[in-house]
Parts: sequence; C-alpha cells; structure tokens
Amino acid sequence: MTYARIVSTGSYLPSNRVSNHDLEKMVDTSHEWILSRTGIENRHIAEDHESTSDLAEKAAISALEAANLSPDSIDLIVIATTTADQVFPSSACLLQDRLGIKGCPAFDVQAVCAGFMYALDIAEKFIRTASATRALVIGAETFSRIIDWKDRSTCVLFGDGAGAIIVEASDTPGIHTTHLHADGQYKDLLSVPVGVSKNFNKVVNGSAFTQMQGGEVFRIAVKCMEKVAEEALEANGVDIDSVDWMIPHQANMRIITATAKRLGIPMSKVIVTVNQHGNTSAASIPLAFDVAVRDGRIKPGDRILIEGFGGGFTWGAAFLTY
Ligand code: ACO
Repeated sequence: MTYARIVSTGSYLPSNRVSNHDLEKMVDTSHEWILSRTGIENRHIAEDHESTSDLAEKAAISALEAANLSPDSIDLIVIATTTADQVFPSSACLLQDRLGIKGCPAFDVQAVCAGFMYALDIAEKFIRTASATRALVIGAETFSRIIDWKDRSTCVLFGDGAGAIIVEASDTPGIHTTHLHADGQYKDLLSVPVGVSKNFNKVVNGSAFTQMQGGEVFRIAVKCMEKVAEEALEANGVDIDSVDWMIPHQANMRIITATAKRLGIPMSKVIVTVNQHGNTSAASIPLAFDVAVRDGRIKPGDRILIEGFGGGFTWGAAFLTY
C-alpha cells in the first residue's frame, strides 16, 4: 500500500508589513476594533511588482531546501489560489517554468480559503494511485488585489502570502484521510461577483472586490469547521484528545477560538498566525504549518488535524501524521 506523506514545508510573506495603525490612516477604523473583532494586528501586502507565482516560487524553494530536494524530483504541481497571475496559463505552469521542471502535470485549484484542502486532497490521491511520487502543493494569494481598500469592513481582514508543502509516496501512513465539501447555495455571502465572462469591465477598471456578509459567514464557518473536524476524527476512530495540533484556516481569531471550544481542544494545541498574517485565504494553512514546523512545535510523528473554510461555500479537513 502506498501512502502520501508530508516531508517538508516552506513559506513566504511579502516584506511590506501593514499594521492596524497603518490602516487607521486609510479608513475609519481603529487598532482596538480590529484586534477585538478579529485578533489581527498585522498583515503582509505584496508590492505591485510581486505576483502570486512570485510568492509561490519563494515558498516552493523554501520547502525544497528544507527537504534537500532538487526541483526536477517533483512530478506534480498543484497551486491553490483565488488570485492567479493571469487568466491562463495557470500559476502552476508559470511556477513550473521558473523552477525548470519539465513535463509533469501542473494546475491551479480554485476553492478560495479552502483551496489548500482541495489541493492536498488531489495530491494525496495522485500519490496513493501511483500517478505521482512527489508533489509540490502550494497555497498562494495576492488577495490584496481583490480588496476595496476603502471598505473598512473587508480591508482589515486580509493579507498576502504563500505556503508550500512537499508530499511524497511512503510505505508508512502520513495523510490518513481527507474530507471535502461545498454548498453553492451560499455563493452570495462571500464573493467577488465579477470575472472573465461576467462584468469583465469591472475587472479591467480595477473594481473586482470582495463582498461579504460577515455575520452569516462567521456563523456558518464555525458550524462547518466543527462538523468536518468531527467527520475526520470519526473516520480515523480517534477523539480530539489524540490530536497533537490543530491547524485551522486563519480567517479570524474568534472563528478559531469558537471552533476549538466546540471541538474541546485547548488553544495551546491550536496553531494561530492570523494575528500576524491576517487572512491569506488558500495560503493560510500551509503558512501556519510552516511557522509551527520551523519554530519546533510540530515534530515528526505528531498527529495533526487541519481544516479550511471559504467562499462557495467550500470546506474540508484532513487528519495526518507528520
Ligand atoms: N472598523 C471599525 N468599525 C467597523 C469596521 C472596522 N474595520 N468594520 C465594520 N465596522 C462597524 C460596522 O459598520 C458596524 O457599525 P454599525 O453598528 O454602526 O453599523 C459595527 O462595526 C459592527 O459591525 P458587525 O459587522 O456587526 O461586526 P462584527 O462583530 O460582526 O464583526 C467581522 C465583523 C469581523 C467581519 C465578523 O463578522 C467576522 O469575523 N465575520 C467572519 C468573516 C470572515 O472572517 N471572513 C473572512 C473570509 S471567510 C473565511 O475566510 C472563512
């Protein structure tokens, strides 16, 4: 039996760090409001010249270096992103060219903030079915490009960044199970309601912005994250006490603490980066994963529950041994 196992992680944050106090100069808000409602203090914003594939490339190189692997050993590239560089080719193909990798499948996945869960699920299936042996799975976003920086209800929440993991074939189990869901009836609660085939003029004139009904998103996100985490635990016949670390999508500190409370996991076992990264959408889980690997909290053999939730709505979880 072939399993898929995570062998390394990497990440990248743009150097431009924007604090709540910086935002106070741009919109009618305050550090205290943002901190108390979201837990966010800082976020990183890409420079105009930095694209999603630039961020993805730096995260990929950091994951390759961590495992002492060369790019030509990769035979699958999946990038989860909402903010691809171009309509096409995919950011994954742009990255493949930058890394000098030739011939392997490379594609983007779009499931907004749950995108990394979808990308990981796909890579796990490629590996388990022997269609790939070593995959580069990335969440990368320049979400700041689809934010109205005059809208205080959304601009304080998001940031840019990229996280990467390398997953490879193994004789011992790594990713035990993955669980994906979507429900398109909620499409209007969180969206950028324009694109290539609808109201393209808004894209061209730079007003393709995120719209959100925050209260509703909050309520449904907590419910779905709790349910999918329970689904993952049940599928593996384990209870929450046997989880060493939970890595939730980093949308909002209040969503994270509410989910942890409902699941009965102490916050000391929950990896939190939203305070310093904001919500980096598909990048948030692999970014948080990498932070906790590099600071020594996550160690080989640890049992980890990861879960994401995003526009669509889309959501998912995975239970794995690192
Ligand atoms: N600064 C100051 N005041 C603000 C700001 C701001 N940045 N934004 C909104 N307000 C005001 C509102 O205008 C409102 O004022 P009013 O009462 O005079 O009308 C007041 O604050 C309260 O607004 P609410 O929306 O009720 O505030 P709430 O406590 O619900 O917090 C928030 C808003 C933080 C967006 C919350 O609903 C939330 O966290 N929702 C989840 C959404 C989320 O995290 N989305 C991320 C994307 S989805 C995902 O990744 C899962």
